[in-house]
Amino acid sequence: MPRTFFLVIFAALALSGCGEPEDTRPGQPVAHRKQAFKDIFDVFDSMGAMLKKDSYDAATFKALAQQLAARRNAPWNYFAADTLYPPSHARAEIWSEPAKFDEDKKDFLAATDRLIAAAGGQDRRAIEAAFGKVKDSCEACHKAFKKRSD
Ligand code: HEC
Repeated sequence: MPRTFFLVIFAALALSGCGEPEDTRPGQPVAHRKQAFKDIFDVFDSMGAMLKKDSYDAATFKALAQQLAARRNAPWNYFAADTLYPPSHARAEIWSEPAKFDEDKKDFLAATDRLIAAAGGQDRRAIEAAFGKVKDSCEACHKAFKKRSD
């Protein structure tokens, strides 16, 4: 097999991640919302690591919470009509039960409000509880509206 063939395949894999099809639609709504969720995950994961490793530092945690605040609104506008196609892992219920999806989104925003307000304080227990509530809100929405495959 010619060497260039492999190069093309690996380049495609690197672009789309995990061998999933690339989002070739105009504006790439699926790719954008996936990236937006990854960005939320990255900062949320850093906050979780701090709590777990017992390396809580109020100023750093607060800065992370501000990044979470800056990123939390990014995915939602990319859930336009007719944007359920590979490589999306979204469920059709987002579009058939929009009120419930909206409610889960509001729960998430309210939970992050409380975490952002608690961040920077010294009450570790309150911060851990607020962090846990945000995590619950991610999971509640994923359970209803995201395929379990990932
Ligand atoms: C209101 C619903 C909702 C909330 C809240 C939510 N998510 Fe998601 N998330 C989704 C949906 C739907 C997808 C699938 C998007 C797609 O593939 O089109 C997703 C996908 C993801 C992905 C996979 C991205 C990829 O590369 O495919 C990650 C990671 C993720 N979410 C993390 C989080 C984290 C962390 C939180 C909470 C801090 C969170 N989500 C909150 C609905 C939600």
